[in-house]
Amino acid sequence: MTTQFAGFSKLDRLQRINYIVENSPLTADKKGSFEDYCATGGEQQVLFQDMIENYIGNFPIPMGIVPHILINGESCIVPFVTEESSVVAAASKAAKYWATRGGFKAEVASMTKKGQVHFTWNGNPDRISKIFQGIRQKLFQATSELTEKMRQRGGGITEIQLLDKTSELPDYYQIDVSFETADAMGANFINSCLETIATVLQQLPDLNFGDNRVEIIMSILSNYTPDCIVRCFVECPVTSLTEWHKELTGYAFATKFKQAIDIANLDISRAVTHNKGIMNGVDAVLLATGNDWRATAASVHAYASKDGRYRGLTTIQLTDETFRYELELPLAVGIVGGITRIHPVIEKTLAIMNYPNARKLMMIAAASGLANNFSAIASLITTGIQEGHMKMHLFNILNQLHVSHTERERVISQFNGTTVSYAAVKDYLKQICIER
Ligand code: MEV
Repeated sequence: MTTQFAGFSKLDRLQRINYIVENSPLTADKKGSFEDYCATGGEQQVLFQDMIENYIGNFPIPMGIVPHILINGESCIVPFVTEESSVVAAASKAAKYWATRGGFKAEVASMTKKGQVHFTWNGNPDRISKIFQGIRQKLFQATSELTEKMRQRGGGITEIQLLDKTSELPDYYQIDVSFETADAMGANFINSCLETIATVLQQLPDLNFGDNRVEIIMSILSNYTPDCIVRCFVECPVTSLTEWHKELTGYAFATKFKQAIDIANLDISRAVTHNKGIMNGVDAVLLATGNDWRATAASVHAYASKDGRYRGLTTIQLTDETFRYELELPLAVGIVGGITRIHPVIEKTLAIMNYPNARKLMMIAAASGLANNFSAIASLITTGIQEGHMKMHLFNILNQLHVSHTERERVISQFNGTTVSYAAVKDYLKQICIER
């Protein structure tokens, strides 16, 4: 086995797979599995091959549908891409529940994104702040060609500021740039603008004279998007909260629900899991639409700690009469740019959602997150989570145990309405094998 190899990227796909077989425990008979998930149309396959470096094959993740999320009075069919068994079922259950109670109300508060040029300047801090207004104009001018198309679409650079950070790090400043990116997430657009700004800064005679020099450290968008905010809530009379769990009155359900939210607000261990449940829905939509879920996850979790303590992202208002449950989160998403227009499935998932713009996609993702979270909390405070989760996970267990069709049918009927576990399924299979 060799551990070092130069030129892997120069190999073609099959040569790379052969290399892996020779240099890893992967056996030659498993090679074919990389073909299983290749796109049947040759042209589509090329799209995948060109997306990343050192490509060897496609990695499938299931896509399911949440058939009816009512958002601002409009029914939306939402594709979810997720590997977790119970996510689609949980979102669908909450979506159905809330569809008869007014549905999800959502709004986008703002869609501003930010980028930063980090640099040092060894001149007098008073001087740079005095002359910055003039510099700012030059930076707008220098980027005007780059931003022209985006401006035509209603976006562009909306603000350029100088931030003096010299008290935190010697000679350190930021050019903090605000962007509107219309229907794009905008990462490439933002980074191109920032790199242009950086080049101009380095050349400005006002800053580069004598011993004074601008040294660029880096230019990059910020994935923290506290000004790209979507809000979504559900609301109903407390008395109508009875259906979820027949044994609890609406008031008892709402009170316990509120306790769960209060706990997510005060305890980080619970808050992280609470927010993970929200991201189950959000990420499933982001994946289905080719959006950068790593960027949004980073932003969402930073936002959860914006007041100095990590909290759950939902808030609850409970009176004797009304239950109102709200989610607020930063979501920078796009329906153009990145892989959204080239991935052969994303074209279809956007069609399923009736071609949302970025603003609407933010609302769909937020409603999906709130649906998943509502389902999780409602289960946690009543039946517990495992009943629903393991019911869905049963199929994974059956597939893992390679059962026959008849055995599968018998196991499903045996575990209908009872608690599923891997050990219990295995025991039952042993029993029915003896019977045969
Ligand atoms: C599981 O994927 C998500 C939950 O843990 C979320 C939660 O605890 O709120 C059920």
